[in-house]
Amino acid sequence: MPNSNGKATTIFIFGASGDLTQRKLVPALHSLNCEGLLHPHTRIIGAARSVLDHKTLSDAFLAGVTDYARLKPGMCERWDLFSERISYLAGSYDDPETYRALAALQARLDAEGNPAPNRLFYLAIPPQLYPAVIRGIGESGLNRPEKGWARIIVEKPFGSDLATAQQLNDQLSAVFDESSIYRIDHYLGKETVQNILFFRFGNSIFEPLWNRTHVDHVQITMAETVGVGHRGGYYDRAGVLRDMFQNHLLQLLTLTAMEPPSVLNAKTLRDQKAQVLQAIRPLSPADGIYGQYEGYRSEPHVAPNSHTPTYIALRLFVDNWRWRDVPFYVRSGKKLAHKTTEITLQFKSVPHHLFPGAGDLPPNRLSLVIQPNESIHLRFEAKRPGAGMQPEAVNMAFGYGAHFGDYALPDAYERLLLDALQGDASLFARRDEIELAWTLTDPLTVPVEPYPYAAASDGPAESDAFLMANGHRWFPMDDNHPHSYPGDPSDQE
Ligand code: BG6
Repeated sequence: MPNSNGKATTIFIFGASGDLTQRKLVPALHSLNCEGLLHPHTRIIGAARSVLDHKTLSDAFLAGVTDYARLKPGMCERWDLFSERISYLAGSYDDPETYRALAALQARLDAEGNPAPNRLFYLAIPPQLYPAVIRGIGESGLNRPEKGWARIIVEKPFGSDLATAQQLNDQLSAVFDESSIYRIDHYLGKETVQNILFFRFGNSIFEPLWNRTHVDHVQITMAETVGVGHRGGYYDRAGVLRDMFQNHLLQLLTLTAMEPPSVLNAKTLRDQKAQVLQAIRPLSPADGIYGQYEGYRSEPHVAPNSHTPTYIALRLFVDNWRWRDVPFYVRSGKKLAHKTTEITLQFKSVPHHLFPGAGDLPPNRLSLVIQPNESIHLRFEAKRPGAGMQPEAVNMAFGYGAHFGDYALPDAYERLLLDALQGDASLFARRDEIELAWTLTDPLTVPVEPYPYAAASDGPAESDAFLMANGHRWFPMDDNHPHSYPGDPSDQE
């Protein structure tokens, strides 16, 4: 079975009564179990502060699995059999007794048969509780199992700036080896994000074009239609820069811009990603546009005079041989008109105009649509049938759903939990990546008055003007490939 030492694992989830556990972790473990990817004796011990009985917790988990899992109860093992492997312990995170009780519970379950001696700790709790739990694990010796390994998965946000991230890294390093620390960025677990590597380095036709000689500019969009919902308290302190840019956006950028490693493993991959982060030219607020959706200040738990940006658009440069002077435009926002995550490379225009009357031919574009409608599109020009030589932009497309089927894409947490069980940290951020990302983000998190934008819009108009001033335009967000870009400077005849 796919555990790095063949032994079963006890997965300790701190924050077992929370949203993340119910919506993501247990559904992901259930789907992995359905597919036979978990050691059959894998066990879950949930810990949280609230006193809950097993039935209440199991019912809540069943509801989560029914609503959110890719593979539902009934598609494999019966729920009651899966649920027998879940235990729960209530306790305070800063009480040493909680950790003694967790160790005793594991020892008792092991003694009853089917031992699960490896320990995987998951911090699904608010970040202010991390230090207490890390300390509790260390002081109780839970990090040093006698017959297996111990690893820890840490959720984002990983610190709120460079100093706090370093502090958290130090707290973790005092208890776990770097090789046992798994800092999660769920975007790295998405199939389509991993496919960036496969697309680039598993094909020979794209990579020769993937550089400053052929690429005019790159756009990365992470647009959401949702607002901050019930997370106003957290979000108002974080804003889009800490919530999306420091982690997900920069991770997408590193995968898009990195050099090919000579072999693929956690070290080489993360070395190459760190090199990109090192090469990004330092940023300041003048490199972008900050926005805030109208109505944000009336959201629950948001300060009435908040300046927190819910939208950011930035121009970045990666100062190395491959990318020198190629703009990377990135944007992310909440309450926008469309939900989409997309990476598009615009190639340079043809060097010579051969077709009279065809005007300036629009440049070719390659789009990797990360979600939803996971797909890859190549826009190129074709001759419109009929007299003359008139161009028309057409689309060559690959759709994941159409090709692999609707249930083929595992949830990001399935992949990441499995990798952590197998000891593969490739898709988790290393200490230096996190700290480099904060080094880039910190100068942007200074107070700036954001431009207001209407809900269900494309963001502040100033963001369009910002790109226009650089001779470019944002690509439409509506997943309508091939894009038609009325008024695109490069499309004008
Ligand atoms: C989370 C952010 O990390 O990512 C949320 O905290 C955001 O604010 C979410 O909505 C987006 O993730 P996904 O997978 O829905 O694109």
